[in-house]
Amino acid sequence: MHIAILGRQPALGVAELEQLYGSDAVRWFTDQSATIDSSRFDFNRLGGSQKAGRVVAELSGNWRSVSMRIVKEYSATWAEYSGKITLGISAYGFPVSARDVQKTGLVLKAKLKQRGVSVRLVPNVEPALNSATSHHNKLGLSSNHVELLIVRASGGKVIVAESVGAQNITAIAARDQARPKTDSFVGMLPPKLARIMVNLTNFDAGSSNFESCTMLDPFCGTGVLLQEAMLLGYNVQGTDLSPKMIDYSQVNLEWLVSKFQIRNSKFHLTQGDAMEHVWAQPVDAVATETYLGQPFSAPPSPAKLTEVRGNCNHIISEFLKNIATQLQPGTPLCVAVPAWRDIHGNFSHLPLVGGLKKLGFTEITLQHVTPNQLLYYRENQVVARELLLLRKT
Ligand SMILES: C[S@@+](CC[C@H](N)C(=O)[O-])C[C@H]1O[C@@H](n2cnc3c(N)ncnc32)[C@H](O)[C@@H]1O
Repeated sequence: MHIAILGRQPALGVAELEQLYGSDAVRWFTDQSATIDSSRFDFNRLGGSQKAGRVVAELSGNWRSVSMRIVKEYSATWAEYSGKITLGISAYGFPVSARDVQKTGLVLKAKLKQRGVSVRLVPNVEPALNSATSHHNKLGLSSNHVELLIVRASGGKVIVAESVGAQNITAIAARDQARPKTDSFVGMLPPKLARIMVNLTNFDAGSSNFESCTMLDPFCGTGVLLQEAMLLGYNVQGTDLSPKMIDYSQVNLEWLVSKFQIRNSKFHLTQGDAMEHVWAQPVDAVATETYLGQPFSAPPSPAKLTEVRGNCNHIISEFLKNIATQLQPGTPLCVAVPAWRDIHGNFSHLPLVGGLKKLGFTEITLQHVTPNQLLYYRENQVVARELLLLRKT
């Protein structure tokens, strides 16, 4: 069993896990973590989890008792270790300070020193190391770079896990900022969210040859979703109304292929209006961030909102009607559409969200996450992205 430490919007992380590994295999453990019981678990694939670890013990109790147990177990396990161990300890859900956590590491380090084993302890600024620190120290990536994830649920149950890695912040930042073409007007889909969206389609579940699958983004913009899908091994097809965006995607994907030495995945880009375009087949899955309307720095007036919402609703409904005629029944889609937040934090949704059945789609319901949790936004954003999980009926 594994435990995942979830990202900034934990429900999106759990939705991703549930789609990839099935609802029976996934459980919320705390509001920031989930357990996964699947032999297919692959942390490197995920966008919505910051870290994950292989569960090595399930305990109960307070920090003191858990800490004593850890010192006892690991001083015995590593007593004969030859070579240096780099150790990080991260505590979640305990009412303890960074110093308390560090102290556990120092006691363990002293005990091992007596046995001639040398430990480098990664300093805790917080009770839990942030994922950048874990990643830069290569924790979880080899047998002598260990991070213990110690997670306490409100009922007192404690999971101890050995990390299998932390999100590669450097590579994610490079995919976001170092790619040659970006465009702040079409918006910046964060690569982590793009990765979650590709995984939410889960179109390769159980398939051994997902490399031959093709994912389509009909509003591809600068190609962030296509990039993430290619990194996961899929062939991709992107279309966009704007020829400039097709040029941008072309440059970005060529850059990705050479920078990340992608050998097997192919890409295909064409200019086209999603309301009437005829896509090349096969299309095995669709992941797209549709037209979101104009950006707003403050909630718009009711008249302006009605206008923008009506315009987006028209474009996205026509797109859905058009693509419904071209997809095989059962084809999965993850479609990000706009929802607008008012000053009280209430959302105004697109009218089409209530009529997806009529447009030819079945909504996928998740066991562990409700549809209203599938909203991605930052606190200062008026336009949120609402993720619709669909299947062609
Ligand atoms: C929110 S952006 C998508 C950004 C994209 N996820 C990226 O990685 O850059 C929406 C895109 O939809 C395109 N668009 C707007 N109306 C369209 C239409 N009718 N058909 C196809 N694309 C359209 C815009 O040119 C824009 O690139």
